[in-house]
Amino acid sequence: MEIKDKIEQIIRTNKPVGSKLQEICDILRSSTPHFHWVGFYFVHNNKKELKLAQFSGKPTEHTIIPFGKGICGQVAVSNENFIVQDVSEQDNYISCGFEVKSEIVVPIFVEGKNVGQIDIDSHDIAPFSKEDEVLLEYVCERVASLELHSILEGYSSEVE
Ligand code: SME
Repeated sequence: MEIKDKIEQIIRTNKPVGSKLQEICDILRSSTPHFHWVGFYFVHNNKKELKLAQFSGKPTEHTIIPFGKGICGQVAVSNENFIVQDVSEQDNYISCGFEVKSEIVVPIFVEGKNVGQIDIDSHDIAPFSKEDEVLLEYVCERVASLELHSILEGYSSEVE
């Protein structure tokens, strides 16, 4: 089965949204050799910060990331995909370990608002392709269709 079909299957189950997001992280990481850490961050409590939700891979101490900080924080502000093929070339980067060499972050939009993102770390330099970007955009679109209310507790579109 193709990865997109597996994602679709997960999206369509009756499980709680948190379980679906966890399964999506796990399946992306296990089916893509250069995806070494996969996680979702969501905008938190109108505080101009992101909070880590489900993830697959090594636990990180970066569970809260202020808007503008690191690759994730920059995507919260830019509303655009950010592909970093070599993190050593980025000044505004939050390291999650010496083994991480590259990162891709794709935002999640609900009704036009950037409510969160998927974040992938890789231990390889320059592993990410256009195909990865398209797959992750698809994942984010499908995640945006879920009932994210419980995850986005405290979120308001008035976030300043
Ligand atoms: N490297 C990210 C921080 C989050 S971790 O990759 C899990 C960043 O620069 O925003």
